[in-house]
Amino acid sequence: MDEPFRPRRIEQLTGAIRTIVDEVIDAFIDRCQCDAVQDFAIPIPVRIIADMLGIPRAMAPKIKEWSDAAVEPLGMMVSDERQIACAELLVEFQRYFKAELEARASEPRADLLTHIEQARDECGDGLSLPEKLSLCSQLMVAGNETTTNGLAAGIRRLIEHPDNVQALLNDDADHRQARAFANEVLRLESPVQGLFRIVSRDTELAGVKLPKGARVMLRFAAANRDPAKFTRPDALDAQRRNVGTHLAFGAGVHHCIGANLAREEMTQAFHILVRRVRDLAFAADRTDLHYHPSLVLRGLTRLPIKFAKVT
Ligand code: HEM
Repeated sequence: MDEPFRPRRIEQLTGAIRTIVDEVIDAFIDRCQCDAVQDFAIPIPVRIIADMLGIPRAMAPKIKEWSDAAVEPLGMMVSDERQIACAELLVEFQRYFKAELEARASEPRADLLTHIEQARDECGDGLSLPEKLSLCSQLMVAGNETTTNGLAAGIRRLIEHPDNVQALLNDDADHRQARAFANEVLRLESPVQGLFRIVSRDTELAGVKLPKGARVMLRFAAANRDPAKFTRPDALDAQRRNVGTHLAFGAGVHHCIGANLAREEMTQAFHILVRRVRDLAFAADRTDLHYHPSLVLRGLTRLPIKFAKVT
């Protein structure tokens, strides 16, 4: 299932990713201001995953709506009314994707939905409809909010630490600086702050007894600022020796399947943005920046910015 996300396949997507980033920037650049969340960080990953899945671009706003409906309840901080609205949206999502999967069964295409439709388990059997829908949901959801949050956080950091803009402008052909910057943003911001696990057997961790069945939260964000691992852990330092060795994508069997894709999206987005705009600045008071209420995800609600267009 991870074949379309392997590094070689993602490298082949670089051109398409760059085209999408340019199109997204074209839509707001003449205004010399925008909300970097709504106008930049949301549309880039949504369009990329829509294209990969084989869903028409016109569905991008709907994909975002479905993705939000799946993610918000995970934060455990939504009202009962919103929980019900989210459940209704998820039924709508299931109906739409069921029809799309059926269409791929009769007419295969070169897209991720066909890949899911044709996937076989370890016994060689096709997947059940709930399994297929779960995969669609994971790809659509896991990749959107997280990458959006990473992109928005990166722009905030570029404004707060403009020395990185210069480093990105001096970048080499492999975009090594942009890649390092993207990784450092992922480490510091950890768009997935933590996820729950159930302890499978009695154990002990750093002197704390964890009984079988206990619910614990792995805090990737805390690990990413571990002073034993990262010197000056709270500082953004894209030149640090061990840049990229963070846990923002988790570890082990559940390591993020979209890590290569997300890194490439962020790398290309930052690389292109600093070449198309200059004098990036906050358009509102810096203290007016707010994060979505969530135990699990970290992401800005909005990021008003201003800039000059590079001609
Ligand atoms: C900056 C962006 C992203 C971050 C920070 C991120 C983070 C994570 C983390 C921490 C996990 C581990 C979950 C666990 O340990 O249980 C994970 C899993 C996953 N991610 Fe991502 N992710 C990102 C982008 C993406 C993208 C672009 C996709 C796909 C298009 C994606 C698809 C998935 C899937 C399907 C899993 C589940 C893997 C499994 O359980 O085997 N993610 N992600």
